[in-house]
Amino acid sequence: MNELEWAEGGMSADKMTASWEKLDQLGAEVSEKLNLRKAFADDPARFERYSAALNDLFVDYSKNLVNDDVMAALVELAKAANVEGWRDRMFAGDKINVTENRAVLHTALRNLDGGPVEVDGEDVMPAVKEVLGRLKDFAARVHSGEWKGHTGKKITDVVNIGIGGSDLGPVMVNEALRPYHIDGIRCHFVSNVDGAHIVDTLKFLDAETTLFIIASKTFTTDETLTNAYSARDWLVGMLKDEAAVAKHFVAVSTALDKVAAFGIDTDNAFGFWDWVGGRYSLWSAIGLPIILAVGYEKFEELLRGAQSMDNHFKTAPIATNIPMILGLIGVWYRNVLGASSQAILPYDQHLSRLPAYLQQADMESNGKSVTRDGKPIAYETGPIIWGEPGTNGQHAFYQLIHQGTELIPVDFIMAANALHPLANHHDKLVSNCLAQAEALMRGKTEAEVREELSGSDLSPAEIDVLAPQKVFDGNKPSNMILYKQLDPFTLGRLVAMYEHKIFVQGIIWNVNSYDQWGVELGKQLAKELLPMVEGKEDASTRDASTAGLIKRLHGLRG
Ligand code: F6P
Repeated sequence: MNELEWAEGGMSADKMTASWEKLDQLGAEVSEKLNLRKAFADDPARFERYSAALNDLFVDYSKNLVNDDVMAALVELAKAANVEGWRDRMFAGDKINVTENRAVLHTALRNLDGGPVEVDGEDVMPAVKEVLGRLKDFAARVHSGEWKGHTGKKITDVVNIGIGGSDLGPVMVNEALRPYHIDGIRCHFVSNVDGAHIVDTLKFLDAETTLFIIASKTFTTDETLTNAYSARDWLVGMLKDEAAVAKHFVAVSTALDKVAAFGIDTDNAFGFWDWVGGRYSLWSAIGLPIILAVGYEKFEELLRGAQSMDNHFKTAPIATNIPMILGLIGVWYRNVLGASSQAILPYDQHLSRLPAYLQQADMESNGKSVTRDGKPIAYETGPIIWGEPGTNGQHAFYQLIHQGTELIPVDFIMAANALHPLANHHDKLVSNCLAQAEALMRGKTEAEVREELSGSDLSPAEIDVLAPQKVFDGNKPSNMILYKQLDPFTLGRLVAMYEHKIFVQGIIWNVNSYDQWGVELGKQLAKELLPMVEGKEDASTRDASTAGLIKRLHGLRG
């Protein structure tokens, strides 16, 4: 392959163009004619046909604005983009992160029962397993009390200091697996450089029994290092001994030299590798707070769940492959039907941080406007990801999804079984989730509204005013993701499912989903502005707004 062919990865430009043309034509037809209520009435097999499963993990995509022609055209698009070829290259350790010349191998981190995975001719699996073994030993020592704080006490509280991928994954999983938390140890997370975050977190902690994990892939991230130094000052101030740091600080990073420079003994550091993207790193040593919260065995179940989704993604044909289907349907809404966002609505309180986690995973991956080989993009790429757990969202923003002017595809997520004893709550939760999906799909016609109002005390004139307000257009799309219960294995499957969905879309959009140059400019400017904010440098060289704001800030500070 020449360089361009390599960048395009066997993508067929002609076939891509033909696929897009077909999809555009189908888009016009569907917008005009497809009525989901009617589609269900006409086709009793619609639910069976438009669903996919991986054991108990079930995805109903029948409430989408699709038909057989659309699904077939989307499969053709995936083939034209050579998504399967790129997928195989990712799993094989090819350097598909072209702008950073790196492999993309978060899948190797959960390849527990698979064979060797090579990067630059070297099998990475022995190193992966070695680090897992060290994490397991370390967590066991903390849990048993063999690892003691400086004054000889058992660790009761863990504070993970990290941001972005070094925070969101562990936070999300820590919350998701709350029913599995081990007694006697609590995890806290500090990410924001806003001092309020660390001050509020440390307020109720006892330095003698607190362990800090400094988690940073690069160990250069300003927020994390600022918080890490403040944590160290707090600890040394409380315990009145610099030597205490050795028993209260561990680190997770790919840059062990920088860990040592910070003053953490590298015997107490856990490494990972440049082929693990920050937002794909919860499966690596970045998962240490998860291991401390739920124990190594549960973490391994999480990895095994992700591995099972990896195997499905690797082997299932496109038409029955869950991440492929979700990715393709997302492309359909984004590029053909014009949706600019995607709502993630878990009917599972323990998944309350999933939308925030997926914001980074998806938006940092696919929020791009040049192709892999640096050409400007003339089509839409990653959507805005947002969401909140049900039923809270129902009393906040669902109004706009039902009756607003935006097309917002929704992923509903729910467990068949709760992990708490309040069965009546769970039945109500599930009914609400099913009701919202049904309401979005079927809507309520004006005739139905008028029929309802006809029995009321309202006058015909009042009914004329009120009826249109109460109409629901319906035809609003959603996926329903259903599973037996939210255990570590299922959580692993869910997260890997979304990772691979993001991959599929990135390939179709021809972007590098594994870099994030868009975060750099703000970091660079913040560094330049700091001395001006501190009053050490003159701000008048900046634009009038920034200079004016800094002046006003100084005025307000007196
Ligand atoms: O926000 C940019 C980013 O580089 C993310 O991609 C990453 O997850 C986060 O910062 C934290 O980086 P690190 O783990 O190197 O501190």
